[in-house]
Amino acid sequence: MLKKIFIGLLVIIIVLQFIRPAKNRMEIPGTYGIGKQYPVPVNVVSILEKACYDCHSNTTRYPWYNNIQPVGWWLNNHIKKGKGELNFSEFGNYSFAKQAKKLHKVAKEVKEGGMPLNSYTWIHRDAILNEDDKTALVNWAEGLSKQIATVHNIDMSKKVPKS
Ligand code: HEC
Repeated sequence: MLKKIFIGLLVIIIVLQFIRPAKNRMEIPGTYGIGKQYPVPVNVVSILEKACYDCHSNTTRYPWYNNIQPVGWWLNNHIKKGKGELNFSEFGNYSFAKQAKKLHKVAKEVKEGGMPLNSYTWIHRDAILNEDDKTALVNWAEGLSKQIATVHNIDMSKKVPKS
């Protein structure tokens, strides 16, 4: 009896390995990436790449354990949710109001330590931001947010439009 249950479970686990979400990897660098639209200093690019792009861009660097299900599904869920909120690869497609407000939120999340997610830095130790990283990212995001808001006359007290 036990042996049958064990074999049954083993079969289920093996079958699960074949059900995989599509990978979030764009082959061609997009024209709507934030770096194509706005100046992003090199140090900020490297901070975004190491700490944010896995969930907030179209170019996720997948770890080996993405190949183990259901871990891969769990990662995929974070990527989908993160990208839905903010996708730096599609940033140029956002309205100016949304751009200014999302950047303002970037500064806020980083200042408050909400991003990157703890479950992420727990494994990706290199994504833990030190004080210099935080200052650079916050200053850039706030500066650019203010610039976009001023140039396009945006009322920052209004809520982020959905599209
Ligand atoms: C492991 C995936 C992951 C990483 C890495 C990550 N985020 Fe997020 N982020 C999310 C998810 C998921 C959400 C959706 C809200 C939630 O679940 O907390 C989110 C939400 C946000 C929001 C809120 C958007 C809004 O309009 O409310 C901002 C801003 C943000 N992230 C910025 C960043 C920045 C900046 C970094 C890098 C320093 C980063 N995130 C790293 C997954 C991630």
